[in-house]
Amino acid sequence: MLYVSALSLLVIASGPLLGHAQTIVAVNGTASHPIPKTLWGLMYEDISHSGDGGLYGERLQNRAFQQVAPGTTQALNSWSAIGGALIEVVADTIPLSSALPNSLQVLIPEGAGEVGVENSGYYGIEVNPAWTYNASFFYRFPSILPSGSIAANISLVGAESRTTFAASSVTLNPTADWTQVTTSLTPNSSASDINNTFTVTLDGAAFSGVVNFGLFSLFPPAWMGQENGMREDIAQALFELKPSFFRFPGGNNLEGESIATRWQWNATIGPLVNRPGRVGDWGYVNTDGLGIYEYLIWIELMGMQPIMAVWSGYALGGASVPEADLAPYIEQARQQIEFVVGNTSTPGGALRASLGHSKPFILNYVEIGNEARFTCDFISAAPSTYRSYRWASFVDALQNEYPSIRFIATTRYNNPVLAPKPKSYDLHVYQTPTWFRQNGGYYDSVTRDGTTFFEGEYATTSTNSSNLYGIPEQGRLIYPTVQASVSEAVFMMGFERNSDIVFAASYAPLLGHVTEHQWTPNLLSFDSEQVIKSTSYWVQQMFSANKGDWYLPSTLANTAGTLFWSVVKQDTPLAFILKISNAGTATASLVFELPSAVASSGTLIQLQGSATDSNTPDNPNLIVPVTSTIAAKQNLTFTAPALSLSVITVPLA
Ligand code: AHR
Repeated sequence: MLYVSALSLLVIASGPLLGHAQTIVAVNGTASHPIPKTLWGLMYEDISHSGDGGLYGERLQNRAFQQVAPGTTQALNSWSAIGGALIEVVADTIPLSSALPNSLQVLIPEGAGEVGVENSGYYGIEVNPAWTYNASFFYRFPSILPSGSIAANISLVGAESRTTFAASSVTLNPTADWTQVTTSLTPNSSASDINNTFTVTLDGAAFSGVVNFGLFSLFPPAWMGQENGMREDIAQALFELKPSFFRFPGGNNLEGESIATRWQWNATIGPLVNRPGRVGDWGYVNTDGLGIYEYLIWIELMGMQPIMAVWSGYALGGASVPEADLAPYIEQARQQIEFVVGNTSTPGGALRASLGHSKPFILNYVEIGNEARFTCDFISAAPSTYRSYRWASFVDALQNEYPSIRFIATTRYNNPVLAPKPKSYDLHVYQTPTWFRQNGGYYDSVTRDGTTFFEGEYATTSTNSSNLYGIPEQGRLIYPTVQASVSEAVFMMGFERNSDIVFAASYAPLLGHVTEHQWTPNLLSFDSEQVIKSTSYWVQQMFSANKGDWYLPSTLANTAGTLFWSVVKQDTPLAFILKISNAGTATASLVFELPSAVASSGTLIQLQGSATDSNTPDNPNLIVPVTSTIAAKQNLTFTAPALSLSVITVPLA
């Protein structure tokens, strides 16, 4: 136990207070270490429509018919015909671009009225009269041209009521070549629900024949006005977490089911017509509209820094690239890094500058791959090839080229041996509330030898340890619960205590659409118009917003118990910050023996509820932290309610 000072003894006072045993917490005034600025951040990948249909501002699903099989029903996902139009996705004889070979062919029969197509978005579209949406699409007339220009009407309408909330008219010229039209839509009122569609219609009396459409878009204002940027409410909720880093692009979604479908940075940049998209790892097509450049710009706007992953020669379906064939993949990773940090005299830096960002982005951390569990060969082939050549091949080449970047090896289990010895590891854990309470001390006994740790994924996924990766009917959590979240807080206190070696930690997954449960629970859930901040979101926020600057050793808690705490010191304004997690079902009383005199009052932020309470779409604010003023003194007595996390900030006198 590295931080057990002379004061650090667990003492349960014999004298009762309010009928309960009182826990005495002696706090050492000498900090053991500074708390890294990077400690609390975000893990992101496109999972459960967290990117397309989530963080990414685009509101139309299947907007460019990427990676679908023409002629199939699945290719028409989210699209339907209006009036008597006949619609089909075709492999166009004149593709919009080599990246976007498919288009939506609309046959307007003779004598038709108002006909066209509509898109239902990602399970609905929010109609907000405070917004002006940018709308656009490409079109061409592949066979018979209209005799002159014709009008197309673009609208937002109620899917069932057919109420028009916003409308605009654009002119289509008689051309067989691809042409883009853009317009804006400002709703005149809000809709009563999200059951709305985006429509494009033509007057069948003005033209009958075939029109091909490609790359539609409906974009509300993006967070901070970023071009091709992020959905405002989701980005704002993330901003309010005060995150310091953003791990991207995965997670499993980096890896691809096959080598060909891996995430490739260079397929995600430039004009949207140049982005083919890919079949993601979580059961749907990724548009890659949210590409590496958009991520990096947003990371900068958010005041975060990236923890960026490079693909490491293994696909989830089980294929490892043989050692002799790795070179092009290492080169692709090198180019990815050069794109981020190269100066403008390098090809990568020049490419970045051509997109609008001459200055290199900050890049201190690069993770090589995802979840090669070194001693778990029974899970997949990933560990053995990572151990025997993939880690070494990538890190040797990249470290040599970028000596100032810290390269992170992926998840380790059971003290693996990797050569060269990684400077940092990324560890992941999905467990039960009990496990998190009992393992807050996981890093206490880890050897201090210069290796640092990133807890890149952690979350309570079930109350049942045999069902951590199971299905909801068998106990898998859909939304975080109070019991789960206050238990995660215990694990997080362990990161604070060990933040001399734990430099970063992030809950996972970050975001999930309420309709798409590829993985639950998520820190934030959302539908087309609301964001649900989970109890774990609030716990993360309470830690991140009250990070402090120095860790102060204090009496260690009994890991078999349910009451835990952590004390840090903040420089500006000078204050002690006490965090207390009571994961038990009874009130608990503590006395903090602070190392110096304090002001007579402080601030208490408290999250509390019943064990199974969750914030859900029907009750998104059931459990939120409550802020109050609290009396303070150097020997500070505090009563922690059952199932609660409390953060007390006490200014120094
Ligand atoms: O967070 C969900 C998944 O869990 C990640 O994609 C993967 O890294 C882990 O197994």
